[in-house]
Amino acid sequence: MLKCGVLTGGGDSPGINAILRAIVRFGAKHGVKTLGFLEGWQGPLENLVRPLDFSDVSGILHIGGTILGSSRTNPFNVENGPERILENLEKGGIDFLIAIGGDDTMGVAHRLAPYGVKAIGIPQTIDNDIAMTDYTVGFFSALEAITGALDRLHTTAASHHRVLIVEVMGRDAGWLSLMGGVAGGADVILIPEEPFKIDEVYEKIKRREGMKKRFSIVIVAEGAVPEGTEGQVVAEARVDQFGHVRLGGVGQYIANLLSERMKMPVRVTNLAYLQRGGSPSPFDRILATRFGAAAIEFALAGKFDVMTAVHGMRIEPVLLSEALAKPRPVEGFLLYLVDLFG
Ligand code: F6P
Repeated sequence: MLKCGVLTGGGDSPGINAILRAIVRFGAKHGVKTLGFLEGWQGPLENLVRPLDFSDVSGILHIGGTILGSSRTNPFNVENGPERILENLEKGGIDFLIAIGGDDTMGVAHRLAPYGVKAIGIPQTIDNDIAMTDYTVGFFSALEAITGALDRLHTTAASHHRVLIVEVMGRDAGWLSLMGGVAGGADVILIPEEPFKIDEVYEKIKRREGMKKRFSIVIVAEGAVPEGTEGQVVAEARVDQFGHVRLGGVGQYIANLLSERMKMPVRVTNLAYLQRGGSPSPFDRILATRFGAAAIEFALAGKFDVMTAVHGMRIEPVLLSEALAKPRPVEGFLLYLVDLFG
């Protein structure tokens, strides 16, 4: 009986529990027992671990979040972190790890390979910003939240003839803003990949007014950069254990500048953590289930230091060294969607 240790790190999303369910159930069918490490990489570091049996993953397919808890713990920021993890894996008789998360979480798994840790990554983040896979678990569920919010905001914007700014997550990649903007019918879409000019935003809104459209919805990624400034708008300069500042506030920045130009109040809605909650979409449940089973298959085939990736309808292993080597901004051939009707 092989023993698998699974952990869920970084920003959570709907779909993680569906991955855990697939790992436990598909693993059991193929002679793999699963243990759950709690709170991301803090679990292997401090040996916080619990068994994960059928009963533990029963009835969680449709539940958001992660039953194991998450954190942004970075073992390479801790004295003897890798060595402590090795010791705990040895203690638990763990043959391999499955690390569910974004580039930070899977990056730790990759950095542990030279220490002899056998690990497989499963790309999960609402940002959809992991290279070498078409989608990450959580992306489509977050899009559902954004689309529903834009639908709601449209009615109040139209009733009060308002310009509403909607700030969404997405640090360095504008997948959520771009695809959420298209799905929700935003009139202006701003993404980190293309620094924006406030005068151009203003002109687009004025053009709409010329067409008797007396409201506009502007969607902006938290990482979008106002042209001619020193960069992203930061909510908190404090960095996390992977060196990330907390972004936030670009929506209000835009509202203030538009308000001046339009001589009227411009309102801001920051969707923040609403994008990370709720029940996983059908697509995410299917992708999560397929990724969980594939991770077990790759482990049984001796494929480690890889990530489960979806290419079209196929699930394939890709090297973590390649998947994590570069960011995954919105691909150039999709940028026409930013201003499709402009
Ligand atoms: O990485 C996913 C994500 O939701 C980003 O989109 C966002 O910037 C970040 O996590 C927020 O991190 P935290 O949950 O630590 O505030």
